[in-house]
Amino acid sequence: MNSPPSPLQRYHSIIEDVPAFEEAIRRPLARFIWAHKQRIDPAKLTALLTADGYRLVSLDWHPGAFRVVFEPSPLGGHWTFQAGFFHIQEAASMVPVLLLSPRPGMRIMDLCAAPGNKTVQAASAMENSGTVMANDLRHQRMASIRMHVDRLGLINVSTTCRDGGSYPRKAGLFDAVLVDAPCSCEGTSRKNTDILQRPVPGRGRLLMRQKRLLERAVRLCRPGGRIVYSTCTYDPEENEAVVDAVLRDMPDKVEMLPSSLPGLRAAAGVTSWHQERYHPDLRHALRIWPHLNDTGGFFAAVLQRTGGLFLPPEPSPALSDPGYEDENRKGYRLFPEPEQITSLLSNRFGIARSALDNLCLLTRNRRQVFVAASDHRPTVEPPPATGLPLLDLSMKTPKLTTAGAAFLGRFARCNVIDVDTNQLGRYLTRRSFSLHRSQLAETNEDGHVLIRYDGAVLGVGRLFKSQMKVDSFYPKRFAALVTDG
Ligand SMILES: C[S@@+](CC[C@H](N)C(=O)[O-])C[C@H]1O[C@@H](n2cnc3c(N)ncnc32)[C@H](O)[C@@H]1O
Repeated sequence: MNSPPSPLQRYHSIIEDVPAFEEAIRRPLARFIWAHKQRIDPAKLTALLTADGYRLVSLDWHPGAFRVVFEPSPLGGHWTFQAGFFHIQEAASMVPVLLLSPRPGMRIMDLCAAPGNKTVQAASAMENSGTVMANDLRHQRMASIRMHVDRLGLINVSTTCRDGGSYPRKAGLFDAVLVDAPCSCEGTSRKNTDILQRPVPGRGRLLMRQKRLLERAVRLCRPGGRIVYSTCTYDPEENEAVVDAVLRDMPDKVEMLPSSLPGLRAAAGVTSWHQERYHPDLRHALRIWPHLNDTGGFFAAVLQRTGGLFLPPEPSPALSDPGYEDENRKGYRLFPEPEQITSLLSNRFGIARSALDNLCLLTRNRRQVFVAASDHRPTVEPPPATGLPLLDLSMKTPKLTTAGAAFLGRFARCNVIDVDTNQLGRYLTRRSFSLHRSQLAETNEDGHVLIRYDGAVLGVGRLFKSQMKVDSFYPKRFAALVTDG
C-alpha cells in the first residue's frame, strides 16, 4: 500500500536527504532547555535535575543548552523552573539569537517578541545589563513575555506593543535588531501536528508584513550593527524572497553576512525557487531542516547595516542619565525616594543597601516599584513598560513581589524560612504549611518572610509565629505551572 503524499512534498527539490527529512518530521520532538547562568551554573543545574530522574544531553553548538531525553514529570512543574534556573525553548528557535551575538551592555530590539523566548534568551546572554526592547503587535501576547522576564529575574527588558513595521524611529538606534517574523510555522509541525492542515489566511498580506518588518529593522539598526531575519517556516517566499526584496530595495543600506554556528548542521539558503531568482548572497542564509540536528525547522539570515543614517540618531538616555527624567514623563520615572525602599528592605530582611548598587528604582504611580539595570536605555517614544516588579506599596505593609524576592533573596539576612520538599510543594501550590520548631529562628517575626529551598529564594509568605504556620503568597499565574505533588 502506498503511504499518503507528504504535506511538505513541495520542498523535496531543495532538501538534500528527503527520506531522512520525512522520517524526522514524523517523530515527536524532544524538549530543550538553556540554563540561566545568572541564577545557576549549567553543571549544577544538570546535577539537580539528574538527581530527580531527568536525563539531559548537552547541545554541542550551544554551551549551557540541553536536549531533555528523559522527563519523569513535566519540567515546567519542577522547582528549578520556578526558581528561574532555566528556560524551555525549542533548540532551532535558539539559533537566531546566537546569530545576533548579544553581549553585555548592548541595545537590542526584538521587533516581534511574543511569547518572549528569544527576548529572554538575549537578555540572559547580556548578563542582565544593557537593553532588550521586546515589541509585539498583539497586546494579549505581552503577558507571556512579562511572565518569563519575572520568573528569570531579568532587569534589562522593556516592552512595547506596536506595529513593528512602523516602529517609531524616535526609539533611537539599536546595536542589533531581531525580526522573528510572523509566518506559516511549517517548521513547528513536530510539536504542533495539525499546523500543516491549517490554511494560512491572507498570504499576500503576510508576505508584505514580513518585508515591512525587515525594512523597519534596517532603519532602526545603527551602521555596522547586525539584523537577523528568522522564521520557523520552510517556504522560500517567506524567507529568501523577503530578504532578497530588502537587499534589492536598500542596496546601500544593508548586506548579507556569512553565518554559521560551530557544531550546528545547516543547509545554505536557496538562490532560486520556481521561476524566481534571488540575490546570490542568499546562499549565506541558514536552513535548519529537522533531520540535520533532530530539531524543529528554522530559517535565519544575518544582515549588516551599512552606509549612512536615515536620520541623525536620537539619543536614548540611560535610566541613570540626568536627562532621563524629563524625557520620559509618559513612561516610568525614577522612584523619588529610593532611601524609603532601601530602609524597608534592610529593616525587614537585612538586605544591605549595596544590593541595589548599579540598579535603578522606577515607578509609574508610586504604588509599585520596579528595578532595572542603570545602563538600561529603553525607548522614550513609545513609552515602554520597564524593569522587574520589585515592591508593592499599595498594601498596609509594603510587599516584596515574588520576582523581587527571587532577585534580592540571596542578600537577605533575616526573616528567611528554609523549607523542606513537602513544604515547598505546598508553598508552590498556594497552600499554607506548618513549620517545625527548628525552622523558626529567634529573629523571625510575624509578617512577610522569604521562602528558600536548597539555597534559592522562590518567593514570599506570611509567618504566624505563634501558630508555627506560613501562608503562601505564591502567585496564581506561576502556581498554574506546578504539578501538585
Ligand atoms: C514567530 S512569533 C515570535 C516568537 C518570539 N520571537 C519568540 O521567540 O518567542 C511572531 C510574532 O510576531 C507578532 N507580529 C505579527 N505582526 C506583527 C507586527 N506587524 N509588528 C510586531 N509584531 C508582529 C505576532 O503577534 C507574534 O507574536
